Amino acid sequence: MKRVIAIYPGTFDPPTNGHLDLIHRGANIFDELVVGILRNSEKTPLFTVDERMEMLRECTGQLENVRVESFEGLLVDYARDRGAKVVLRGVRAVSDYEYELQMAWMNRKLDASLETVFMMSAGAYSYLSSRLVREIATLGGSLAGLIPTSVESRLRERLGVAPLAPK
Ligand code: PNS
Repeated sequence: MKRVIAIYPGTFDPPTNGHLDLIHRGANIFDELVVGILRNSEKTPLFTVDERMEMLRECTGQLENVRVESFEGLLVDYARDRGAKVVLRGVRAVSDYEYELQMAWMNRKLDASLETVFMMSAGAYSYLSSRLVREIATLGGSLAGLIPTSVESRLRERLGVAPLAPK
């Protein structure tokens, strides 16, 4: 029987509830979902790849068909290496679409056998991004409902920001 393996690639600095929502949706549809964290020497992330891998593994441990890894180099090569036929990407709003479409076309040019599948996360996460999460955490705002509590503790520790006092 044909098993469909999908790769969900990204930076995940840090993972958000939007990422986790997409992982759950992907795990429901594909036989196997490989979450691939890019080892990117150009960006200076807040969390190391190993820390991001740990956070994602903590949050997805209950999903039997989900694996969390890191990768270097071209996504199409990584996908081929893992036997994946699908790249899963989340689209939040029209503003994401141009960037996502450009990547999808380029990946298709590099490997026509690889399909990009776009999925919408829950509406509640349509404005959520790792960048905004980092900014809100730095400025002491509430992240309730936006990231898992385990990620929030690490984030506040990394930034040296105390947890919010209840109002
Ligand atoms: O979470 P992000 O930062 O939007 O993820 C971007 C990612 C990791 C999907 C993209 O940068 C990527 O696939 N990089 C791997 C290198 C590559 O294949 N580049 C050509 C893509 S068109």
